Amino acid sequence: MLMQRIVILGATSTMIQPLLRMMAKEGKELLLVARSQERLDAVRADLLARGAASVLTLEADLTASPDLVYSFAEQCFPGFDTLLLSYGTMLDQTRCQVDGEYAVRELHTNFVSAVALLTLFAKHFESRHSGTIAVITSVAGERGRRSNYVYGAAKGGLSIFLQGLRSRMHGFGVRVLTIKPGPVRTAMTAGLHLPMIASTESVSRDIYRALEKSHREVIYTPRRWRPVMTVIRALPEQFFKRLSI
Ligand SMILES: NC(=O)c1ccc[n+]([C@@H]2O[C@H](COP(=O)([O-])OP(=O)(O)OC[C@H]3O[C@@H](n4cnc5c(N)ncnc54)[C@H](OP(=O)(O)O)[C@@H]3O)[C@@H](O)[C@H]2O)c1
Repeated sequence: MLMQRIVILGATSTMIQPLLRMMAKEGKELLLVARSQERLDAVRADLLARGAASVLTLEADLTASPDLVYSFAEQCFPGFDTLLLSYGTMLDQTRCQVDGEYAVRELHTNFVSAVALLTLFAKHFESRHSGTIAVITSVAGERGRRSNYVYGAAKGGLSIFLQGLRSRMHGFGVRVLTIKPGPVRTAMTAGLHLPMIASTESVSRDIYRALEKSHREVIYTPRRWRPVMTVIRALPEQFFKRLSI
């Protein structure tokens, strides 16, 4: 068993609700961080009823106070062995194209604030010489597309940051797991017509399996996105820029 005490940053994310239920069923201990105490309370009650060994909550805007979140975890939930970062936003790309501050807000939420938190939490894992840092990025971060390149740039930057962090943590026995979902039916994608959209249940199963297997470092979920992205990355720019995707 690789994980027992897990910190979740973005615990009200739709994508990971089935994952949290799987963790609860296996009797895990959880620290849930999100920005709505009311929703945290509802998730907490559900997970306790399903068998979680313990569920602690912290209400916090994850883009605002990384130090506070990190010290709370260290003081109130010591010895945690796994971190899962799952929060994010997908703001309106059309507005990102004309409103610089709005575009920067998207980068701040999906990239800058995640880097701030991961940098703090890395200290914990470095000193315990074990554990897993798992982060949800996106296939959108693999190539800039006209329909969502600001979001994609943030997720791509985050994936590159994780590559470097993985290399740095390698010598300390700490695993860094990059999770790259394709489109998933969640609050974030409500009302959008997206190809090959997956359910939160199947994506959660893939994430749970990867968390429990020490050798997984980069996963695509569903798995079919790995060959698809190999093709997308290989397309020549001269051709790719003409695609209306
Ligand atoms: N859905 C997809 O197709 C898809 C595909 C690839 C990757 N992803 C990534 O998967 C992750 C989970 O997204 P989802 O699909 O589950 O969407 P979601 O249901 O909208 O979840 C996003 C979560 O992020 C939280 N969040 C946003 N800004 C925050 C902040 N400043 N402080 C604290 N929490 C904040 C939201 O909290 P509130 O509810 O309080 O706003 C929400 O719980 C995200 O990183 C997303 O980018 C999603």
